[in-house]
Amino acid sequence: MERILIIGANGQIGSELVTALADKHGADNVIASDIGADNVYGAKRYTRVDVLDKDAVARLVADENITQVYQLAALLSATGEKAPLKAWTLNMDGLLNILEIARERGEAGKPLKVFWPSSIAAFGPNTPSDAPQYAIMDPTSIYGISKLAGERLCEYYHAKYGVDVRSIRYPGIISFKSPPGGGTTDYAIAIFHAALRGEVYECFLGPETTLPMIYMPDAIRATVELMEAPAEQVGIRSSYNVAGVSFNPRELAAAIAAKLPSFRIDYKPDSRQQIADSWPKSLDDARATADWGWKAAIGVDAMVTDMLANVDVGLGKAA
Ligand code: SER
Repeated sequence: MERILIIGANGQIGSELVTALADKHGADNVIASDIGADNVYGAKRYTRVDVLDKDAVARLVADENITQVYQLAALLSATGEKAPLKAWTLNMDGLLNILEIARERGEAGKPLKVFWPSSIAAFGPNTPSDAPQYAIMDPTSIYGISKLAGERLCEYYHAKYGVDVRSIRYPGIISFKSPPGGGTTDYAIAIFHAALRGEVYECFLGPETTLPMIYMPDAIRATVELMEAPAEQVGIRSSYNVAGVSFNPRELAAAIAAKLPSFRIDYKPDSRQQIADSWPKSLDDARATADWGWKAAIGVDAMVTDMLANVDVGLGKAA
């Protein structure tokens, strides 16, 4: 039986992973946690914990006999640029605390499997635009630098201490359960909120900015499939490229307008454009396919239809 701790459960991925894992393993076996007191998405079990408080997390892991940790607490790319040192500390020390706890548990004969998200932000302007699994990285945002360093730490803890850590370089994730904000790819969520409010969407990226994206159900499925793969099939312990779909704001706006003909978009690129320009346009995920059978299932049209049917415009003013 798995006992699962999700740290950062009130964030974009956490809000949906808690439900998916509760369906699989039973709601009593999934403990959602975040830094605030509020159980925002109504997890059956929720506790407040700060990932930077290693002793508190270690106590929680021991008290609850946790066998898997999903360490999702982080500052994203745009928020990170506003507070680089805070982003570095949270993103790096948070991961290190979990890897150290996993090392200690492993040495005590109580193995702890770890999931940690990397990102397209680990790549940089010198990466080919269809990013291979192994490429020149050179990330330029503090978020991306923390992701690349985190990938190296994951591989190091696996090689040196045998920690069973697994990771995905997520494309921009599109979803409707949590409000948009904090990420450079979040224009692709905010655009739906504006469209459904009947507003002209002022896009902070230019029309031709193609980026790798993935719809949340595919992102969750990739996560679960990687975590369930037999250890010997997980040949990459830094982080796997996982692809979904690639599109730019002009193409997404057209797909929305095809279903909501009154929809209009304007372009007003800001500092996030520079971040987006440093990222690849697509990811080559052949290794994820070969090692654990990954294949994306959801295309742009299906995603647009589902988003328009489900976005709650009351979730707050779009970023
Ligand atoms: N969605 C993230 C961001 O834009 C990328 O990992 O910051």
